[in-house]
Amino acid sequence: MMKYRPLGRTGVQVSAVTLGSMLFGTTTSSDEAANLVDQALDSGVNCLDTANVYGMGESEQALGEALRRNGRRDRLVLASKFHARVGDDPNDEGSSRRHIIQQVELSLRRLGVDHLDVYYVHRPTTLVPIDETLRALDDLVSTGKIRYVGTSGFAAWQLMESLWASKEHQLARTVVEQTAYSLLDRRVERELLPMAQTYGLGITVWSPLAGGVLTGKYRDPSAPQQTRFADDKDSDWASKHFTTAADDVVDGVVRIAKDRGCTPAQLCLAWLLAQPAVSSVVIGARDSDQLTDQLGAVTLELSADELAALDRISPPGRAVVPYFLDDSFADLRPHLHRW
Ligand SMILES: NC(=O)c1ccc[n+]([C@@H]2O[C@H](COP(=O)([O-])OP(=O)(O)OC[C@H]3O[C@@H](n4cnc5c(N)ncnc54)[C@H](OP(=O)(O)O)[C@@H]3O)[C@@H](O)[C@H]2O)c1
Repeated sequence: MMKYRPLGRTGVQVSAVTLGSMLFGTTTSSDEAANLVDQALDSGVNCLDTANVYGMGESEQALGEALRRNGRRDRLVLASKFHARVGDDPNDEGSSRRHIIQQVELSLRRLGVDHLDVYYVHRPTTLVPIDETLRALDDLVSTGKIRYVGTSGFAAWQLMESLWASKEHQLARTVVEQTAYSLLDRRVERELLPMAQTYGLGITVWSPLAGGVLTGKYRDPSAPQQTRFADDKDSDWASKHFTTAADDVVDGVVRIAKDRGCTPAQLCLAWLLAQPAVSSVVIGARDSDQLTDQLGAVTLELSADELAALDRISPPGRAVVPYFLDDSFADLRPHLHRW
């Protein structure tokens, strides 16, 4: 049975898992996507996650068709994102007022809805001061186009700065951060999660299975070949996941899951759900079987011994495969922040 948790201090109840749609309209056809959405909603999932950049709008389009088909939009916490490059024009990316207002209209149209429940800033930037971005988002809250502001891939200090700017300028504040967190990258435990708990921010988690690596299937020669990394094993991103250190974590996950009698995916998701800062884990499923497997994690309670065993194979606060947090500093221009 589904469990619900508070989204930070908003009072909104969100399902322990959110259905991600990054591959909808591309890897996953619109029909398959609609079936996955129905299956998730039938299981009690009430959160859907997309972004303007997923499939360059195809994900939102497919999700929109699914929502029209099932007619259950009103029960959902629907989230999208802006920031990533979505076209050739110099202004087709970023966190400017101009881009934000243009993109929210496009996302609403593709989704066929009149508002988003959460609108995430997909990545931090120092090219636009945060108060400029927050002011545009605050206007979207006032005009009813969005209910809440979220961030994604922000470091703890960037989130604190955003809360500070909201307070200083009386703007809608960020209520949730969507972050990379898994047994291959636990760095958010150092600062981001304690910060979120202290200030009442919700945390949603992306790539909880490290793109499927944590299921152990890449260690198993008999596993199906149709996978995210199968054709792509030599890319920089994939090869980051196929190191001896990552293999050791995966082997440990497979062993502990076997002892517990669950699947590795369920173990990894249940471990995330056991972290008190986490509001909802954003899952990605290629098909109905994967979704069924992942939904099984919701009722899986791990024992103290199992949690300790996972700490031994992947120590708290450490990264074996570093995800994107470091990108937060790539375009640092501190002078813009003297506001
Ligand atoms: N905010 C952000 O910057 C950001 C970034 C990335 C994603 N997201 C969101 O997070 C969602 C989830 O991300 P993700 O897809 O990377 O999550 P993930 O859980 O790390 O990877 C999901 C993939 O793992 C494989 N898988 C899942 N269940 C499995 C099972 N039971 N057995 C074997 N393989 C299984 C499938 O890939 P294969 O079948 O291809 O192996 C599936 O597509 C996205 O849809 C998106 O909404 C957000």
